Amino acid sequence: MTANAAALKGKNVILGVTGGIAAYKAVELASRLRKIGAEVHVIMTRGAQSFVTELTFREISGHPVSTGMWEKVSHWQVEHIALARLADLVLVAPATANIIAKAAHGLADDMLTTVLLATEAPICFAPAMNSVMWENPLTQRNIKILRELGYHVITPASGHLACGVEGVGRLPEPEAILEEAVNFALARGGVNNTLTGRKILVTAGGTIAPIDPVRFIANRSSGKMGYAIAREAARRGAETVLVSGPTALPEPVGVKTVQVETTEEMRAAVLKGFPTADAVIKAAAVADYVVKEVAAQKIKKTADEWCLELKKAPDILWELGQKKKPWQVLVGFAAETESLVEYAKAKLAEKNLDFIVANDVTRPGAGFNTDTNIAQLIFRDGKREEHPLLTKEALAEIILDRVASLLPPKRKLQDREKG
Ligand code: PMT
Repeated sequence: MTANAAALKGKNVILGVTGGIAAYKAVELASRLRKIGAEVHVIMTRGAQSFVTELTFREISGHPVSTGMWEKVSHWQVEHIALARLADLVLVAPATANIIAKAAHGLADDMLTTVLLATEAPICFAPAMNSVMWENPLTQRNIKILRELGYHVITPASGHLACGVEGVGRLPEPEAILEEAVNFALARGGVNNTLTGRKILVTAGGTIAPIDPVRFIANRSSGKMGYAIAREAARRGAETVLVSGPTALPEPVGVKTVQVETTEEMRAAVLKGFPTADAVIKAAAVADYVVKEVAAQKIKKTADEWCLELKKAPDILWELGQKKKPWQVLVGFAAETESLVEYAKAKLAEKNLDFIVANDVTRPGAGFNTDTNIAQLIFRDGKREEHPLLTKEALAEIILDRVASLLPPKRKLQDREKG
């Protein structure tokens, strides 16, 4: 394995396999990718399925294989857009003249072409075809279009082709493809390793306050903000722990997710992970008050009025702020409906945070249960960044950029354990 290939460890590689005789070599490619620690997600076109079986790639990659656009996706938790977002690198090998033509013209009529159009990850094609097809001006024009648009096209090797002739068009050996694809991905910045060797703890979702065995008090948090941060942290190579209240979201790939329900459970899970965490990002909406006496049995509907006595729940973030070591970065959120900056600044100081992400949850498109957010980042030194309406994924990237810039040089795990 080359030093650069190691950069794919823990990264999500989409391997697109199209219908050519060289499809068998993609099996070895998938195997090599897995050996270097990449998460390999194979998408096979209909043509590819005539050459190699889905089962082969499933066994080799250790992940479900996508063979069509409209199949049941229960196995994958995600649809094509989520798969496109997940990718750190998309590698199409072997790439037929057909896929090259479709990609060059923006067609999206199957799973692979749709992902190619929907991803922001670097895309690399390894063409393999008959030499006349390769040299055909139409193919050459399509390759020129792709290269001009920033895609990487590996030049095929020369030699004996499956059609019985000698010429250019052979799929290069898997090792050579891998090396070229990784170098391209690194050069494009598509493989973001800025958090490799770091441990990032994220909280998401709302905690619940039980009333009796069947009732509880909850809030409107969907978990989307925290999950976006956890996914991005893992994408950047961090060992990521996500402590999640109840949500309807699938657990992110490559993230250790701890499911909790109550504030006490969240507190226990967070305190367990905190001593070795380089950074904690608390996006969860934690219940501030819990029921004083939780009934052991279902409360009967007898009285016309019912007063619940509540008591303050532990403030997890405040506690972390007390325990925080100088090398740890602590980030909180502030969900406010008025006086956003004033309240957020008070929380920043009171909880001893490095910065706080303040969202006015009354603004359309911001806060709870939306795919977008509008936030201000307020730092210890008084610096303030106002961001426009962004997807939660885009905001997660900004938050992690700031976290990465605040982290001190890497410490060895033993040092971190000493405190
Ligand atoms: O989950 P989504 O639907 O995507 O919505 C995202 C969000 C609106 C929940 C998120 O962007 C957000 O603002 N999260 C913080 C919500 C909140 O509880 O804010 P707060 O101002 O009450 O708390 C301030 C900070 O202290 C938060 O980081 C919170 O996690 C933490 N806290 C609060 C109370 C408590 N008992 N313990 C805590 O740790």
